[in-house]
Amino acid sequence: MTHPMDLIPAPARVEGPYRCGFLLDARTTLYAAPGTGTTERWLRTTLGAAFALPLRETADENAANSVRLRTDGTLAPEAYRLHVVADRVVEIVGGGPAGVFWGAQTLRQLLGPEAYRKAPPGTAPTAALTTQTVEDTPRFAWRGLLLDVSRHFLPKDDVLRYVDLLAAHKLNVLHLHLTDDQGWRIEIKRHPRLTGTGSWRARSKWGHRASPLWDDTPHGGFYTQDDIREIVAYAAERHITVVPEIDLPGHSQAAIAAYPELGNTDVVDTTALTVWDTWGVNPNVLAPTEAVLRFYEGVFEEVLDLFPSTFVHVGGDECPRGQWKASPAAQARIRELGLSGEDGLQSWFIRHFDRWLTARGRRLIGWDEILEGGLAEGAAVSSWRGYGGGIAAAEAGHDVVMCPEQQVYLDHRQAPGEDEPMPIGYVRTLEDVYRFEPVPPGLAPEAAAHILGTQANVWTEVMQDRARIDYQVFPRLAAFAEVAWSALPAPEARDYPAFERRMNTHYRRLDALGVDYRPPTGPHPRQRRPGVLGRPLEGTPPNV
Ligand code: ACM
Repeated sequence: MTHPMDLIPAPARVEGPYRCGFLLDARTTLYAAPGTGTTERWLRTTLGAAFALPLRETADENAANSVRLRTDGTLAPEAYRLHVVADRVVEIVGGGPAGVFWGAQTLRQLLGPEAYRKAPPGTAPTAALTTQTVEDTPRFAWRGLLLDVSRHFLPKDDVLRYVDLLAAHKLNVLHLHLTDDQGWRIEIKRHPRLTGTGSWRARSKWGHRASPLWDDTPHGGFYTQDDIREIVAYAAERHITVVPEIDLPGHSQAAIAAYPELGNTDVVDTTALTVWDTWGVNPNVLAPTEAVLRFYEGVFEEVLDLFPSTFVHVGGDECPRGQWKASPAAQARIRELGLSGEDGLQSWFIRHFDRWLTARGRRLIGWDEILEGGLAEGAAVSSWRGYGGGIAAAEAGHDVVMCPEQQVYLDHRQAPGEDEPMPIGYVRTLEDVYRFEPVPPGLAPEAAAHILGTQANVWTEVMQDRARIDYQVFPRLAAFAEVAWSALPAPEARDYPAFERRMNTHYRRLDALGVDYRPPTGPHPRQRRPGVLGRPLEGTPPNV
């Protein structure tokens, strides 16, 4: 049994606990009113397995010894109330199906770490709860995690596991970075070489890009369209939206290696390009031609069929202008389109797909470089190079997701010193993430209303597998989840010691889930790597 104050993310309000009121046991039933979605099934699958209980369905909304799910339209869609009442009843009331689901996540936390197992470790298949009321609602509508499945392919089952880990933290957006120089990870039926050629590389830089080491094992993999449908459906049942990212016009070498005509063929022999085997910003960018637009429209047509998400991410980051500067064809294009220079070509790409997506009832989102050359009309911005791009976009009336690299890039190391595995970037401790504030101070209320929410980003250059990703993501994702969900005070007023105390319970949940988090005592010996693999940046990250 867990004290309600140990909930993570912290709920808006708790009354109680008072005394024992509920026992989950072999007679416990589930009642689901119409409109509550699939949470009843989720409870049976998860808690039923964890406690080896049948959790039979009942049609009797007044049944005793029951978990009752219903909705109340006066609550916000993701809000919920959870009552544990004395007559052996748990009632979860959501504003909509999502609220019901988040309430069920709270119930799971309250039932104790054993509720996260897949079978009971002991012989007594029961769990007790005290009478109490939890009232809760999220601060932000966009509570995201980006997984870069391009730099290292993450097998489908690991993605599904991350969907569950997001759900356990009441996060609701999984941004999948599906394409990059180092690998194309989504089957596109009309362009089969994107995965046929573009999903494998011959070798990989081992460590940071400054590292002298190579891993000569070929690396690759991709999701079939059925894999994607499965991931999207699994996420949807957990009220998580999967936002696909197809990165253009930069970060495109894997696509160009597969289809050399996509590149700037008048300045580089693109037939000689292979899927990139190292890290960094790549000079091989898309050619600004109508044929390239048609090619990517074909890609996006298939992407839209697979992903119901309103927002579709088109990348737009780190697109070096060198080839466009050198290319007579690109220069002719600039003149023909009446653009002022190469920045105009970048925004020409983005504006085209902004209109194209809008015409199909979707919305474009891109990294903050899409501000260069003028922001497309309906575009939303992922602000990664600090707050600056997000502030400019929000003040111009565009929606923003705040994910500044200085704060919430979880590839950055978690402690100073030489012991962190493959040290990359700044030190961002658990406490630093806990004190991250997505809405920049001083932003006017009209602009602040455009901050849709926040996202933690996991770039996987130095994360070859699930254990490495777990280590970088946890426990910091728990702090991030509280920043995204809970109405926390200003950063300096946040009660970090109290959060750390709640984390003592949360580590036991993560243990039960088999998460390879960084232990609070220091780096796990299994994750130590030699220090030659890249130099950490020292000092405090600048906020730009
Ligand atoms: C990014 O980190 N290049 C979005």
